[in-house]
Amino acid sequence: MHIRSARFISSNVDVSKCPAGHLPEYAFIGRSNVGKSSLINMLTGCKNLAKTSATPGKTQVINHFLVNENWYLADLPGYGYAKVSQEKRQQFASMIENYLQRRSNLVCTFVLIDIRHEPQDNDVHFMNWMIENQLPFSMIFTKADKISATAAKKAVESYKEFLLRHWEEVPPVFISSARTGLGRNEILAYIEQLNSLWKEQNCKKK
Ligand code: GTP
Ligand code: MG
Repeated sequence: MHIRSARFISSNVDVSKCPAGHLPEYAFIGRSNVGKSSLINMLTGCKNLAKTSATPGKTQVINHFLVNENWYLADLPGYGYAKVSQEKRQQFASMIENYLQRRSNLVCTFVLIDIRHEPQDNDVHFMNWMIENQLPFSMIFTKADKISATAAKKAVESYKEFLLRHWEEVPPVFISSARTGLGRNEILAYIEQLNSLWKEQNCKKK
């Protein structure tokens, strides 16, 4: 997919105030500092569209970006950041849960996982919650530039093996690097495919 335009639309804490849900939407979620905002910038080719930071906890609201004037990206706050107070963490969790359960135009959520880490409880817990709530998601392994291509493949295979001990199947998986652009074409092609399906289904409904 060719990106012609990408622009910031709004920041919200309340799902009911998010932009009108007439276009397909994709959310990016994962542990704090995993690289959600950087990946959004890499995919859209706009360096400073989503604010990134070396300090975890940068994104604290739901940020919407409109791409090619016909689909949305939503950048969500990270989970699992220890320095955020218990109360604030609870607020983040309920904001995210509300958003994921109520956003009817949400086509797919991308769960980002740092490729260098073993499966972490909060990621697995979150993905299990998505399954229980019948919410579709795909996985994106980030920061692949930090290890060799062979190590990256191995890490993904062992992560999948871990999941298959508990799950019958693994959702689509991508390997990415915001530094090198690895995974960009594959992720955009996947979104394009889902956009077409979404449009077909929504035309039929009308
Ligand atoms: P929060 O909003 O705080 O939850 O973080 P985030 O998940 O949005 O992460 P962000 O994109 O702000 O990136 C966190 C740090 O990781 C920054 O210092 C980025 O430069 C770095 N980073 C992100 N993606 C990559 C990547 O693919 N490769 C490398 N080497 N560094 C990355
Ligand atoms: Mg962020």
